[in-house]
Amino acid sequence: MHVVVFSTKPYDRQFLEAANAGDGGRHRLVFLEARLSAETAGLAKGAEAVCAFVNDHVDAPVLEAFAGMGIRLLALRSAGFNNVDLVAARRLGLTVARVPAYSPESVAEHTVAMMLSLNRRIHRAYNRVREGNFALDGLLGFDMHGRTVGVVGTGRIGLAVARIMRGFGCTVVAHDPVPSEGGLAMGLDYLSMEDLLARSDIVTLHCPLTPATRHLIDAAAVARMRRGAMLVNTSRGAIVDTRAAIAGLKSGQVGLLGLDVYEEEADLFFEDLSDQMLQDDIFARLLTFPNVLVTAHQAFFTTEALTAIAETTIANITSFAETGRATHEVSTEKLA
Ligand code: NAI
Repeated sequence: MHVVVFSTKPYDRQFLEAANAGDGGRHRLVFLEARLSAETAGLAKGAEAVCAFVNDHVDAPVLEAFAGMGIRLLALRSAGFNNVDLVAARRLGLTVARVPAYSPESVAEHTVAMMLSLNRRIHRAYNRVREGNFALDGLLGFDMHGRTVGVVGTGRIGLAVARIMRGFGCTVVAHDPVPSEGGLAMGLDYLSMEDLLARSDIVTLHCPLTPATRHLIDAAAVARMRRGAMLVNTSRGAIVDTRAAIAGLKSGQVGLLGLDVYEEEADLFFEDLSDQMLQDDIFARLLTFPNVLVTAHQAFFTTEALTAIAETTIANITSFAETGRATHEVSTEKLA
C-alpha cells in the first residue's frame, strides 16, 4: 500500500522502515514531518492509508478530506485513539487501526522511574552535585516499602505498575469500573475512586482518556487525596485538570507531581522549542515547582516498544491490504 506517515521523527522512520523491510518491503512509505491537521491533510493525496501519532488531530474535516482522496485506512501508531473522531470515521467508512499493546512495561517502568525520582529528588540532586552543592537539605524522601500505591485503571500498563510496586513492598489498591481478570488474579483491592484517593500515598493514572475520565483528577479529587501525596500521570494529559493540580501544589495538598503527559502538550511536546519563548503560562507555572517532574511523553520510548509499535502498524496495513480488515481495528460498533 501507499502510506503517508505524518509527524515523522527520525526514530519513526528508522523503526517503520525496518518493520516494512521485515515484511518484504511491500508498502511504499512516504514520511512527512508535518503534523496532521485540516491544513496538512491534503499532503496525503494519492495515498491509500495514513499513519498518525498521538498529537495528530484527526477530526471530522481531516477524515472528510481523506475520504475524498480515496484513503481507506487510518493506522495509528499509538494505543490511545482519543485524538480521532470515530463517529466521523464510521460515517465515512474509514477503518481506524491502532497498536493496542506494545510493551506495557515501557510505560510502567517510566512511571516507576518518575515515582522514584520525585521521591528521592533525583532531578534536584543531579543539578546540585554538578554545581558542587553536596548538601542534602530539601532532598528528604520516604521508603517506598510499606506505602500504599493507588493504581487508577488496571489494564495492561496499570497491572505492570502494580506488579513492580508490589516488588517494592508497597500495598497496591486499585480503581477500575471494570476490574480486570489480571487484577483480580493478583488479589488487588478494588476501591471506589474516593477511597483510593483517601488511602494512597502515591496515585498513578493508567486509564484511557474518555469523556468520563476527562479531568478525573479535578479540584474535588485533589481535595480527597492524602495531604502531601504524590500524583503521577503517564496516561493522557486531560485526565488531570492542570489548574487544580497547580492549586494543590501551592497549598501543599499535592506533595509531588510527575507528568509525562499534559493537557495542552500538542503545542509543545516532541519538538525542540529551546530557542523560543514559552507561550503556555500554565505549563510555565508547573515548571517553577521544585516538586514537579515533567517528561515530554517519553514513557513509551524504548527500543522494544518502538519495534513492537512499528511491527504492529505494518501488520495492520498488510492485513488491511490483503483482507480489507486491519489486525487491530478500533471498534466503532457501539457508536451512535
Ligand atoms: P488498557 O486498555 O489495557 O487499560 C485501560 C484500563 O482503564 C481498563 O482496565 C479500563 O477498564 C480502565 N478504565 C476505563 N475507564 C476508567 C475509569 N474511569 N477509571 C479507572 N479506570 C478506567 O490500556 P493500557 O494499555 O494499560 O494503556 C492505558 C493508557 O495509557 C492508554 O489509554 C494511553 O492513553 C496511555 N498510554 C500512554 C503512553 C505514554 O507514552 N505516556 C503510551 C501508551 C499508553
